[in-house]
Amino acid sequence: MNSPSDLIAFNDLSRTPREVMADIEAAVARVLASGWYVMGPEHDAFEAELGAYLGAAHVVGLGNGTDAIELALAAVGVVQGDTVVTVANAGAYSTVAMRLLGARPAFADVDAATLQMSPATFQAALDRLGEPPRAVVVTHLYGAMADVAGIVAIARAHGIAVVEDCAQALGAASGGIKAGMFGDVATTSFYPTKNLGALGDGGAVYTNSADIATAVRRMRQYGWVSKYSIGLDHGRNSRLDELQAAILRVKLPLLDGLNDRRREIHSAYEAASPRMVNRASESFIGHLAVATSDHRDETRAALRAAGVATDVHYPVPDHHQQFPSDRPEPVSLPATEAASAAVYSVPMFPELTDSEVERVSAALASLDDDRG
Ligand SMILES: Cc1ncc(COP(=O)(O)O)c(C=O)c1O
Repeated sequence: MNSPSDLIAFNDLSRTPREVMADIEAAVARVLASGWYVMGPEHDAFEAELGAYLGAAHVVGLGNGTDAIELALAAVGVVQGDTVVTVANAGAYSTVAMRLLGARPAFADVDAATLQMSPATFQAALDRLGEPPRAVVVTHLYGAMADVAGIVAIARAHGIAVVEDCAQALGAASGGIKAGMFGDVATTSFYPTKNLGALGDGGAVYTNSADIATAVRRMRQYGWVSKYSIGLDHGRNSRLDELQAAILRVKLPLLDGLNDRRREIHSAYEAASPRMVNRASESFIGHLAVATSDHRDETRAALRAAGVATDVHYPVPDHHQQFPSDRPEPVSLPATEAASAAVYSVPMFPELTDSEVERVSAALASLDDDRG
């Protein structure tokens, strides 16, 4: 039995390299000395730098990734009573966001192999609904891109707006085009454990639509169309502050290299286990390393005994969440439900040492009950 100190942590943000921490400290000192803490030069520069990285004409910094989904949906015209399609295996963030708008989530099942919404599962949800929904939220789950181009083609034919939730997939690309640049608008989160993480909360919306960007810019500051004059509904305060923007400016240039290191770690896990959900590629940035097991509790216990921490993303599908006021639609989602019972995640962060990666890989390889 390994002692707790031998346990390979699921994540460890304290391992940020010393030289990166020094740059962050310098950025924080710069903001402190500037006397400007909200909506200042760091924020503007970060929006521009992230837009250049993503190939997006407009980036709007926000307080967190859930606000980003809510405001993106509002900006594409979702109002109270509208239906929005999403998946039920992605941690309920989009479900929470659309419920804040008074919109009704309608769940598409996921593809049983990729665990993502696919054109086929989206089409099946549309067939079930009859009436086209106002919008669809495509979550690029675990850092892997869904077949968003196929989903967009179906959505366009029905006048359905497409929001891409890239909180777990910032930097993933398909054919050189970044996740988020396929639909009408994309959202992301800078929660500290994200591949591009702040040292607190943060989020953003990005889009090539000037109209959507303007609407989100207004909604993030009370719905002001000019200072102190409100001109649209759904305003609130949700801004990315100067400290977080300055920290993110230090980290953004490191993102591709850190995503490559995550892919390298994931490749080692793939070589050790046939049950990894994803494959290292341009369209997968290794946000989470997720595997499946037919007897998850035993598998997690075996990994723990081998000194490997695990977690589950996510144990409760959205349609089984206990919202007290009204329950989500009672729908059967066989692939989603099977995945919720089978998925588990092993340690994945760029600062894992090679020897830790080897230990996790060896532990995965020893799960002989999990072959195939
Ligand atoms: C896929 C996804 N969407 C949205 C969010 C919400 O972001 P935040 O925690 O910044 O509100 C998260 C993570 O937290 C997420 O993983």
